[in-house]
Amino acid sequence: MTNPSLLILPGDGIGPEVMAEVRRIIDWFGDRLGLTFDVSEDLVGGAAYDAHGTPLTDATMSRAQEVDAVLLGAVGGPKYDVLDFSVKPERGLLRLRKEMDLFANLRPAQCFDALADFSSLKRDVVAGLDIMIVRELTSGVYFGEPRGIIEEGNERVGINTQRYTESEIDRVACAAFELAMKRGRKLCSMEKANVMESGVLWREVVTRVGADYPDVELSHMYADAGAMQLTRWPKQFDVIVTDNLFGDLLSDLAAMLTGSLGMLPSASLGAPMANGRPKALYEPVHGSAPDIAGQGKANPIACILSFAMALRYSFDMGDEATRVEKAVERVLADGHRTADLLGEEGRAPLSTSEMGDAVIAALDASL
Ligand code: NAD
Ligand code: IPM
Ligand code: MN
Repeated sequence: MTNPSLLILPGDGIGPEVMAEVRRIIDWFGDRLGLTFDVSEDLVGGAAYDAHGTPLTDATMSRAQEVDAVLLGAVGGPKYDVLDFSVKPERGLLRLRKEMDLFANLRPAQCFDALADFSSLKRDVVAGLDIMIVRELTSGVYFGEPRGIIEEGNERVGINTQRYTESEIDRVACAAFELAMKRGRKLCSMEKANVMESGVLWREVVTRVGADYPDVELSHMYADAGAMQLTRWPKQFDVIVTDNLFGDLLSDLAAMLTGSLGMLPSASLGAPMANGRPKALYEPVHGSAPDIAGQGKANPIACILSFAMALRYSFDMGDEATRVEKAVERVLADGHRTADLLGEEGRAPLSTSEMGDAVIAALDASL
């Protein structure tokens, strides 16, 4: 049997720094458990632009289509802000999502007990939190036409279009219901059906799909009220399904329930491939963090947990995924903290690679 294949795209800013720690964990699986991955690495985002004048080459795009899973660090940075929209680093990531048709973006927000006091919300509100945001990822206002900046009279107009077809809503709703069935059997759908036609259709289709899942308790919320409820009492939720833009905002909000944006992993899944596993890209929810890039300060846990999601969803290695997640939990319980998890505390933070050391040591201890 051939080894599972993994394409690694470290990207920009802290992307390569956090990905270096994931590579050590991948090596650990090979050395200690004999689980070997066929790993290749390539450029994406600003790094690809610098080398090739495009944030994603066709060759990298083809490779991403062939492998069992893609793991991406982060893209973007101030150096590239001046570039034309069509070659900005973020376009590389958006092209991967669109051409691989990764319509279901799973963003779990879990509050590890050791971090419950670190969230900006009270311990009671976040302790034990375990929710899953399912963000539609290939449509909506991110991709709708018409778009652009046009001249109108004596001024310019910026245009983006929110657009959802029934089938696009249907497939992401199915993915969310399926997840809810495996979790707490509760699904809350968020849109703004009070002001947007796309929200009206969204609510209608999700309700229709819900008829096939009588065991899942379905509720609907306007996304603004949803944001409020996520900070008021997030434990009322199990799975949340929402559109591309609302999902982007709500998942950054959910990050702060867990203590840091440096903690949140994600899986972007598409239709099943010939081997029955979904087409998939895994990436931390955070970006390239230009303010701390190159300083060895970044928290690698979001990227490490993204690899754990790859083990679970792409490689059918649920036990090994749990091994990684438990190692992270252990490291946090033992008090290991990168700077983002210390706030105003006077303690010296761990560097990115020291956090990697701690996770490897916890993995060793798990054998
Ligand atoms: P960001 O997520 O990069 O950073 C927001 C804040 O969180 C910063 O203060 C940063 O230091 C901190 N942070 C983020 N990840 C961290 C980690 N692992 N450890 C410690 N601290 C961490 O968001 P931004 O500053 O709004 O965006 C910067 C660039 O990243 C932009 O170009 C943006 O487009 C891009 N971006 C990329 C992705 C992605 O590649 N998936 C996601 C979000 C933003
Ligand atoms: C994310 C990011 C991306 C998005 C950007 C970098 C294109 O914010 O993955 O959350 O807006 O989807
Ligand atoms: Mn985002």
